[in-house]
Amino acid sequence: MTHAATVAELSGNGQLVYGCDYNPEQWDASVWQEDVRLMKDAGVNLVAVNIFGWAEIEPEQGVFRFENLDAIMDLLAENGIGVNLGTGTASPPAWLTTAHPEVLPTTADGTRRWPGGRQAFCPSSPVYRERALALVEQVSVRYGSHPGLRLWHVSNELGCHNSLCYCDVSADEFRGWLRARYGTLDALNAAWGTAFWSQRYSAWAQILPPRLTLSTTNPTQTLDFNRFSSDELLAHYCAEEAVLRRNSEIPVTTNFMVAAHIRNQDYWTWAPAMDVIANDHYVDHRLDAPLAELAFAADTTRGLAQGQPWILMEHSTGAVNWQPRNLAKGPGEMLRTSLTHLARGADGLCFFQWRASLQGSEKFHSAMVPHAGTDSQTWRDVVELGSVLEKLREIAGTTVHADVALVFSWETWWAHDQESHPSGDVQYIEQVHAAYKALWDAGLTVDVVAPGADLSGYKLVVVPNLYLIRDEHAAVIRDFVDNGGSAVITFFSGIVDENEKVRAGGYPGAFRELLGIRSEEFFPVDAEQPLTLDNGSLASLWSEALHLTTAEAMLSYATGHHVGTPAVTRNHFGAGEAWYAGTVLDNAVLKDLLLRAAAAAGVQLPDAPSGLESVTRRGNGHEYVFLINHTSEDRKHRVSGMELLTAEAVADVVVIPAGAVRVVRTTPRISDTDGPAQDRKDSRNDSH
Ligand code: GAL
Repeated sequence: MTHAATVAELSGNGQLVYGCDYNPEQWDASVWQEDVRLMKDAGVNLVAVNIFGWAEIEPEQGVFRFENLDAIMDLLAENGIGVNLGTGTASPPAWLTTAHPEVLPTTADGTRRWPGGRQAFCPSSPVYRERALALVEQVSVRYGSHPGLRLWHVSNELGCHNSLCYCDVSADEFRGWLRARYGTLDALNAAWGTAFWSQRYSAWAQILPPRLTLSTTNPTQTLDFNRFSSDELLAHYCAEEAVLRRNSEIPVTTNFMVAAHIRNQDYWTWAPAMDVIANDHYVDHRLDAPLAELAFAADTTRGLAQGQPWILMEHSTGAVNWQPRNLAKGPGEMLRTSLTHLARGADGLCFFQWRASLQGSEKFHSAMVPHAGTDSQTWRDVVELGSVLEKLREIAGTTVHADVALVFSWETWWAHDQESHPSGDVQYIEQVHAAYKALWDAGLTVDVVAPGADLSGYKLVVVPNLYLIRDEHAAVIRDFVDNGGSAVITFFSGIVDENEKVRAGGYPGAFRELLGIRSEEFFPVDAEQPLTLDNGSLASLWSEALHLTTAEAMLSYATGHHVGTPAVTRNHFGAGEAWYAGTVLDNAVLKDLLLRAAAAAGVQLPDAPSGLESVTRRGNGHEYVFLINHTSEDRKHRVSGMELLTAEAVADVVVIPAGAVRVVRTTPRISDTDGPAQDRKDSRNDSH
């Protein structure tokens, strides 16, 4: 990262960003003028163009047609609307895949995927890379200093469809990656445990991606292939970025996908390469708790941004088109979900997309201008959101502060969910979401952090199912507790090292001493027949033959093989304490446990009534208390200051009407000198 920008700079005048994907190539030029007029009406200040522009601007190899893009760039700039310019490489055009079918991606069974959709390229393809960079060269030379340009948008959602390619070119690159990682075949054989099932390699050329086999594959090979594949697309990002840097001074980013159904990019390793952290998020109605997942994604994105403001690059005004049932948003829902992102640190909100397509597979995806046109609730909501962002402009640069951290890892996700594990019913992201949901229900503000992150500013650290953890990262959690912090660790954590090698001597290997327990065996629980604990609540999916070494039992099994055996424990360790949940607890029980651990750790407990989401941003000597009422009844919250959406003074209590949102700027605190966007650690220390 060399050209770091604050998000508010991207709006052109320090405001919060309000933007969209704009695909003018789908529309007759006569519509463009109206589009820009409406964008101004709504307060749109940043527009992403050329995201899927390749075939439009390079209709044949080496033949470039920029007239339309020139006109759009100029039109936006003349109207004071900034451009977030796509490099255009997200989807290779038909001329490329026809002339070079070898750029197409190959699945694990060795079959090549056809063109005709999008993102049909192998991340390792040198032919794709060469043609893509040639395009980026043209685009960046032409527009690198265009007055409308505010941000470069590399490709689009890198790895959304094509992260794992198993072709021969990828195999070759994978071998190169492995050589760099292991140096020698002996080291690779040891790391992969190839003594098992006669898998020893005697030459590099024998090594393949984990292609489809009759039995299960080698888990470390699969894990390394995940790591390689994430690195490979990051390398592609960096290759495009290098071309942009040569030709332009404008900041560069790409849109991440922190989401429940996308897991192939390790964004902890990607984030340092971005000038601005950008995420795409869509409410996922396939999940049990979509709003908690939204909050989790936003908090994770803030973690990727190191606590600094970030930009929501895509969300939807209403329904998407890719879930089994594409639910539209109800009254006020678009505002509530938008402000959840803002509350959790976004300084900009953008939508996919500006005007709803009339053709193509996304024609039933919502947009800012729906098929119905501007005489629609959607359009009125879009205009209202623009004015809300205007009223909230002073929050730009302010930051969120949390006493609680939750450790989350894409690498663990890859390892945890492999085949041949004790229970296929236990999925990493579900357990992470369950822990986060319990914290969210408790009203606690949470920072999502990477394994190994500095925990010294926190009071409570929650570690759900951290199956794979490196020794040095486990040591950070141990030292945190030793120094007086509290940790809550859930089952199937600390089991393997970075090579997926089990830590012997009893589970949970990396955390045995910290937790003061030793587990002999896992006893997965039938999903239909949960056990009961001695407080009468359920224990689902998992149990263990757990012994106490130094810990005390807090809850024990009342049914099953191990009646009387501890299920939840607490251990005093150094100056702190470490809790263990050895089963899937009911949400209410997990919430109580977390609240108890938080209280003991000195976390100030919130008093938000249920269904009222409350998050505070700080800066400019103020606190900005976001209050999002997800219920159909009015809610009250104790706070004093100025309510920014109604411009009304609040003395002591603010009422948040059913389904509404309020943002209260508290009265300045004399001692508070927080400026906007300060270093996260300084400002966090200030709050403790
Ligand atoms: C994103 C993508 C957009 C659009 C959107 C639909 O994944 O970046 O181009 O397809 O989803 O929800």
